[in-house]
Amino acid sequence: MTDITKTGEWRALEALSAKPVDLRAAFSRDPERAQRFALEAAGIYLDFSKNRINDEILAALLALAKAGELEAAKKRMFAGEKINATEGRAVLHVALRDFALRAYHVDGEDVSKLVRAEREKMRDFVRRVHSGDFRGVSGKPLDTVVNIGIGGSDLGPQMATEALRPYWAPGRRAFFVSNVDGQHLADTLEGLDPERTLFIIASKTFTTQETMTNAASARAWFIEKTGDEKAIANHFVALSTNERAVADFGIDPANMFVFWDWVGGRYSLWSAIGLSIALQTSFDIFERLLKGAHAMDEHFRTAPLEANMPALLALIGVWNRNFENISAHAVLPYDQHLARLPAYLQQADMESNGKSRRMDGAPVSCATGPVIFGEPGTNGQHAFYQLIHQGTDVISSDFIAPALSQEPLGDHHEKLLANFLAQTEAMMLGKTEGEARAELEAQGLTKPEVDALAPHKVFPGGRPTNSILMEKLTPETLGALLALYEHKIFCEGALWGINSFDQWGVELGKTLAKAILPELAKLGEEKPEASAHDASTNALINRINAARAAQKNDQ
Ligand code: F6P
Repeated sequence: MTDITKTGEWRALEALSAKPVDLRAAFSRDPERAQRFALEAAGIYLDFSKNRINDEILAALLALAKAGELEAAKKRMFAGEKINATEGRAVLHVALRDFALRAYHVDGEDVSKLVRAEREKMRDFVRRVHSGDFRGVSGKPLDTVVNIGIGGSDLGPQMATEALRPYWAPGRRAFFVSNVDGQHLADTLEGLDPERTLFIIASKTFTTQETMTNAASARAWFIEKTGDEKAIANHFVALSTNERAVADFGIDPANMFVFWDWVGGRYSLWSAIGLSIALQTSFDIFERLLKGAHAMDEHFRTAPLEANMPALLALIGVWNRNFENISAHAVLPYDQHLARLPAYLQQADMESNGKSRRMDGAPVSCATGPVIFGEPGTNGQHAFYQLIHQGTDVISSDFIAPALSQEPLGDHHEKLLANFLAQTEAMMLGKTEGEARAELEAQGLTKPEVDALAPHKVFPGGRPTNSILMEKLTPETLGALLALYEHKIFCEGALWGINSFDQWGVELGKTLAKAILPELAKLGEEKPEASAHDASTNALINRINAARAAQKNDQ
C-alpha cells in the first residue's frame, strides 16, 4: 500500500503549504469562491470555501487522493473485502441501509438477505410493542425503553433518538444507561414502572464489563420489583452478535436481534442496535434514516472524486491536519437536537483514526486523526470559542445547521442562524489592528486607551471552517449527515494507510482494570498495602482502600 507521504503529490502539497492562503484576500479577490468550493448531495449542502485552500491546493489534494488510490480502497470496502485486517473482518455498514437490493458478499454469502430478514423482525417487534400485542407481564403497555449499552451500542442510538425528537411516537419514553457508575442506572430507574419498562441490552460482544454489570443490576432490580423471574421474557431483549452469551444471560433467543461481525460497533446504529430509535419513533422513521444514509452512500460510491462530498471533506481534513498542523477539530451543531453529535463523532472519528501504525504495522509517517470536541451552538460560543478566535493554536471547525426549525418559536431560529453565520464569518475575516483601533476611536477612547486596548481586540482570522447546511433536520438528512462523516473518516484513514476499523487502543486499560478490581476493598474490608503497580497507582489504591475500609465504622 502506498505511503502517501513518500509521493511527489505529498511534497507538492508541502511546498504549497509554505505560502499560506490569506482567506480575507482570497474572498475579496474572487466573488465565485463560495460557489466553486461548495457542493450538494443527499440533501446536504457543504461549503468548504472558508478553509485556507485555493484552486491549486484543491487540485493537489485531488492528485494526492489518486496517488493514495482512494477509489480502489472505496471499491474494496463496498466489495466486502476484509479491509479490517487486524480483526479479519469486512466493513459493510453500507449493506445495512442499502435499499437498491444490491448483493453484498462476505465469505461467499450474500449478507443482504440476512439484513433484510433482521429488519423485518425488527419492524414486526416495533409494531407489536406499539400496538400492545407485545406487552408487559402484567398486561401494561411497554411505553418505556431503557437501552443499556456503551460506546457504539449507546452513542449512536442515543444521539439519533434525540435528533429525531419531533418524530417521537406519543407517550413513549427512552432512556440510555452506559456508565458502570451505579448512579447512572440508579438515577435512571428511579421512578420507572417496571411493568411498563422494556430493557434493551445492546452489546456487540455481550462481554463488555459496563454493559454486563448494568444489565445484571437491571435484571436484579426488575426481579425485586416484580417478584417474577419469568417476566424477564417480556421485559428484556438483546441486540448482539453473540447468541450464546445472550442465552447464557437468560434472554430468550426469540427476543434477540442480531447483527454481524462486519458491522463495527461505532458504525452499528443502522443495525439492530437502532432498535431503541425505531421504538421511540416508528420503524418507518428508522427506515427513512437508513434511506438518507443510503442516498449519501450512493453519492459516495458513484460521484467522481472532485464532486464527491465525503472525499472532499476528507481531503480538507488531511490538508488541515497534515499541512496546516491543526490537531483539534470542533463539531458545532446549531441544532439543540444534535447535542449528542459531538460525542458520537468523538467515538466515530477518534476510535477510527486515532492510530499511529500503518496497516502493515510500520509507524505512520504523518499525523493522523485530530482531537474531536464540540457542543451545540450557541452554547459553545459562551465557553470555548474564545480560544478558537484568539488562542495560540489554530482549530478547524464544522458548523452544522438546518435552515428551517422543526419547532419554530418566535424569532429563535433566525437568532440561532445569525450566530451560525456570524461565527464562520468572524473566524474567516478576523479583525486587523487598524480596524480595532478605528472602532475604539469611534467610541471616543483616548489615544492611550486605544493603545492599551487595541491589541486585545485583534482577531487573527483565517480560522478554517466548513459550513454544513440542510433544509431541515429530518430522518433523511440526519442519515445522510452521519453517512457523510462515516465516509469522510474512512477516506482519511485510507489515505493515511491506517486501519480505521479496529480499536486495539482500548484494550490495555480494560485489562489493567480487571487486574486492579480484586485489589480494591469492599466496604469495611481491610486490604494489604498495594505493591504490584507503579508508586502512584499503589498510593491511589491505598488511599481508596483506606476510605472504603473506614466506611463500615461510619455506618
Ligand atoms: O471498548 C471499545 C468498544 O469495543 C467500542 O468499539 C464499542 O462500541 C464498545 O466498546 C461497546 O462494545 P459492545 O457493543 O461489544 O458492548
